[in-house]
Amino acid sequence: MDKILVHGGVRLEGAVRIGGSKNSALPILAATLLTKGKCVIDRVPDLSDIHYMLTILGRLGCEVERASGVVQIRAEKILTEAPYEIVRKMRASVCVLGPLLGREKAAKVSLPGGCVIGDRPIDLHLKGFEALGATVMVKGGDILLEAKKLQGARINLRGRHGPTVLGTGNIMMASVLAEGTTDIEGAAEEPEVIDLANFLIAMGAKISGAGTQHIQIEGVPELHGANHTVIPDRIEAGTFLVAGAIAGNRVTVTRTEPKHLGAVITALKNAGFELSHTSDSVTISPNGSRRPLHIETLPYPGFPTDMQAQFCAMLATMDGTSVVTETVFPQRFMHVSELKRMGASIDLNNHRATIHGVERLSGAPVMASDLRASAALVLAALPADGITEINRVYHIDRGYEAIDEKLNALGAHIERVKS
Ligand code: EPZ
Repeated sequence: MDKILVHGGVRLEGAVRIGGSKNSALPILAATLLTKGKCVIDRVPDLSDIHYMLTILGRLGCEVERASGVVQIRAEKILTEAPYEIVRKMRASVCVLGPLLGREKAAKVSLPGGCVIGDRPIDLHLKGFEALGATVMVKGGDILLEAKKLQGARINLRGRHGPTVLGTGNIMMASVLAEGTTDIEGAAEEPEVIDLANFLIAMGAKISGAGTQHIQIEGVPELHGANHTVIPDRIEAGTFLVAGAIAGNRVTVTRTEPKHLGAVITALKNAGFELSHTSDSVTISPNGSRRPLHIETLPYPGFPTDMQAQFCAMLATMDGTSVVTETVFPQRFMHVSELKRMGASIDLNNHRATIHGVERLSGAPVMASDLRASAALVLAALPADGITEINRVYHIDRGYEAIDEKLNALGAHIERVKS
């Protein structure tokens, strides 16, 4: 397993180009199962999670071609059973359930395991499939879906931790070819849901309300192939802005969408940083004052859970006491124990971390866990004293394309050690 060595004490300066969104590309690639026509998806990031999804689609019978960031897919004839040995590696594989059910009225996919950020139930997805007329069985660790026909329905997808992003996408994809109209209440409002809806509409689907809590889908007889460019990855952009906050002189993220970063930009301004933006870039620079924060993660447009670990890394050396409350994935604090190995002073109580800022962290061997926690450790190591060795780097490669090379281009000193 590769590891990376982060030499601390660096200052970052310059601009970094943001890639296509992983969390938008994954359901969009799955949505190509809904048509026999050819789809061309541009700005698909080169990540292991994307590789897993393309492998699953290939095993389902799709013709898949990839040339740098462009993926061409044609799902002429497809199988309905996703292979366990790949599905188990990526929970987001569940988003093939919706298109398989929508097109073939059948699907067999292994139940996603939990992961380090907590239990990852899909009860809301299954509730939606049943409402559309599917029978749902769980047998031998697999989810089996079957339907004679799919009939539009009114479905509330709000769970105890708020809406479900992939669940909203799955029900949209299962209902675009159903008979009649489907009303999704309590839908997720994330930009990735809007991007998926825009791709489905380009394929001929009739969808309105994406980006609000009420999405309406009017079933159509079939969909055709389409071309689509994936939106920029707002979490990659936010991660590099936090790198600028932690170790920057002045860092700019380009080819991004500032309006997707509202809550992150507001939080960084409240922490005392100077932020400015153009139509497709955001720049952060220190302006002397730095303030502790009270942050609560919420569904979009609230502060994103996928930015929580990165902010903990920043607040670890922020004067004063900060409080970070995680309401989406309450156990998502794997990064705290590793940050404490680097000298951070953090008290964890259930879903709340109280962070007492210290002068400086010191490098140490640490363990990556989930992809955002791993990115947080890289950020924390940038200004730290000494060298930080981060093991199990494959976690980072799942969600960040060449993060070490991009940070080195900004002035970091990161070595990747092949195992
Ligand atoms: C998506 O996961 C993202 N992944 C996650 O990003 C992100 O953290 C999450 O949305 C929240 O924004 C992808 O898009 C591939 P949810 P998803 O269903 O859709 C509960 C990353 O770092 N829930 O919105 O799986 C669930 O347990 C990843 O890139 C149910 O109770 O998340 C959680 O508490 C990590 N029942 C909350 O809802 C369900 O049926 C939100 O989960 C589904 C979810």
